[in-house]
Amino acid sequence: MNATMSLEEIKHHPVMLNHVLSIISPQHGGTFIDCTFGGGGYSQAILKFTGTKVLAIDRDKLTQKYANSLEKKFPKRFIFFQEKFSNLNKVVKQNLNPRAIIFDLGLSSFQLADRKRGFSFESKNLLNMEMGINKYSAYDVVNTLDKEYLAAIIKILGDEKDGKIIANKIDEYRRKKPIKTSQELALIINKAKKNYNYYKKNPATKTFQAIRIFVNQELTELILGLIEAAKLLSNGGILIVVSFHSLEDKIVKNFFNLYSNIEKNPSRYLPIDANKSSLFKLITKKPLVASIKDIKENVRARSAKLRYAIRNSNSFFYPNEFKNKFENYFKLESGKI
Ligand SMILES: C[S@@+](CC[C@H](N)C(=O)[O-])C[C@H]1O[C@@H](n2cnc3c(N)ncnc32)[C@H](O)[C@@H]1O
Repeated sequence: MNATMSLEEIKHHPVMLNHVLSIISPQHGGTFIDCTFGGGGYSQAILKFTGTKVLAIDRDKLTQKYANSLEKKFPKRFIFFQEKFSNLNKVVKQNLNPRAIIFDLGLSSFQLADRKRGFSFESKNLLNMEMGINKYSAYDVVNTLDKEYLAAIIKILGDEKDGKIIANKIDEYRRKKPIKTSQELALIINKAKKNYNYYKKNPATKTFQAIRIFVNQELTELILGLIEAAKLLSNGGILIVVSFHSLEDKIVKNFFNLYSNIEKNPSRYLPIDANKSSLFKLITKKPLVASIKDIKENVRARSAKLRYAIRNSNSFFYPNEFKNKFENYFKLESGKI
């Protein structure tokens, strides 16, 4: 992607598409839920097989135009909702019986490249970082959030050891004038990080990740989205998640471990169906990663981790243990502005 390209010229290469297709086997038909429609790469590849139907959602209203073209092409087999995947139950009927529910987390190439959204360090537009259907923007977070709270967000959601130093520098700056653009914010962070010239990545990378996660409540979304997916799937249904950073992967790994009884199994020796505390058969004990070809097409694939599991026929039970495990993320992301 280069700085002079228009959004129309940018291509989003779906990450690990071949892995996803070989897991869900769309050639056998069935209904699929694409929870992160983006540029429609996965949905389109599934719809190429005539016996398939796709219900897709995305929180970003800009994805609607890609959805419109698929709705035109496949009016009886494709439907799109602009919605957050934590609200999956609002748009999907309980008895839909999907063959697979797919999450391909994070940002699409279109969102990253759109300077107006402010996801990139060079953006001179007003700080935004919203994926869609948000309560507040990065501008609100950076300029109004309590200094200690900001430090905690940067430290925990960005895994940034210098969270406090960075929050202090931000606070110093905003006392004089508001921080308006992503570029301005990146420069403030660069000054706060010592020896930043030696960093391979831009030194603002982790802080930007933290603020983006907070603005979009991404971890809460993921936790609630996985729970909704587990409710919707019936016996044999597949749940696939492609994640891009360690916080996301930790949540996915824990979810599958707990609900396939890998981590704490009171009745490990019972057959799966008799074991009422399990909802899934975990297939990927270790995550699958992208091929070199995938990485060449889309550099984001470098950090992709794919995990999947197959739902059994046990009745859904509320996953308190899972929610409790990540209570801190809920609390952190629900901070009032
Ligand atoms: C990596 S892209 C998906 C790309 C897609 N698989 C493709 O092949 O084009 C991720 C998409 O998920 C959407 N998204 C992220 N979090 C979401 C959420 N909580 N609810 C709904 N959509 C979400 C983003 O807006 C973005 O368009």
